[in-house]
Amino acid sequence: MSKNRPVVEAIDVKKTYMLGKVPVEALRGVNLRVEAGDFVSILGPSGSGKSTMLNLIGALDKPTSGTLLIDGVDISKLNDNQLANLRLKIGFVFQFFNLIPRLNARDNVELAMSIANKGKSDRRKRAIELLETVGLKDRVNHKPAELSGGQQQRVAIARALANNPKFLLLDEPTGNVDSKTANEVISLIKKLNAEDNVSIIMVTHDQHLAREARRTVQMFDGEISQVVVNGQ
Ligand SMILES: Nc1ncnc2c1ncn2[C@@H]1O[C@H](COP(=O)(O)OP(=O)(O)OP(=O)(O)O)[C@@H](O)[C@H]1O
Ligand SMILES: [Mg+2]
Repeated sequence: MSKNRPVVEAIDVKKTYMLGKVPVEALRGVNLRVEAGDFVSILGPSGSGKSTMLNLIGALDKPTSGTLLIDGVDISKLNDNQLANLRLKIGFVFQFFNLIPRLNARDNVELAMSIANKGKSDRRKRAIELLETVGLKDRVNHKPAELSGGQQQRVAIARALANNPKFLLLDEPTGNVDSKTANEVISLIKKLNAEDNVSIIMVTHDQHLAREARRTVQMFDGEISQVVVNGQ
């Protein structure tokens, strides 16, 4: 057992979708432990259960059976309201950046901050700090259309960090940018993990990208077929 606290712990997690009367077993008993400060990639072919796993880890859906603890909380015991609150502790980054087009970078980040947290001026200050962290200090007033793909994804990452999440959940974060820009995005993700100790879970079907993580969880047909520790 390792000393670090788990942010995600899955024990024999199964997920069966009902397609009319036909059951589709998307997850067939997954065991996974992700600790604070870890960087894990989830790799697997189409249909292997990656998005299903991501939805569960993101508290967007519940397992059919088994236990899934997110930040120590058993999600199957939560109601919709409690699940929504839990999601505030998770930073989501998607393939398509999902920024609000008419807002500049700073306002996109600021909008994500839970209002309860701080006053307006503190939120603004923090938004600018986060944009500085992702290397966009000189782009705070730019709207998404005035930014490159990689810059937009970095704004999305800054936004995902706005509420100090327990972990960042990334779904094909470089799926929509060219390879040079992808390198820039992955460098940032690695920096956040190494320097700021942000826990990272990244879903991808790109082997090269997956190897950038500390560990790669390989999925096949609804199961974890192997876990590879990547050499640095
Ligand atoms: N809502 C649903 N209803 C029925 N079956 C589903 C549903 N969502 C997913 N599935 C099935 O569950 C299995 C796992 O799907 P999932 O979306 O998790 O795969 P994936 O690994 O994310 O694939 P991809 O790389 O193509 O995104 C597939 O066989 C899929 O057809
Ligand atoms: Mg998928």
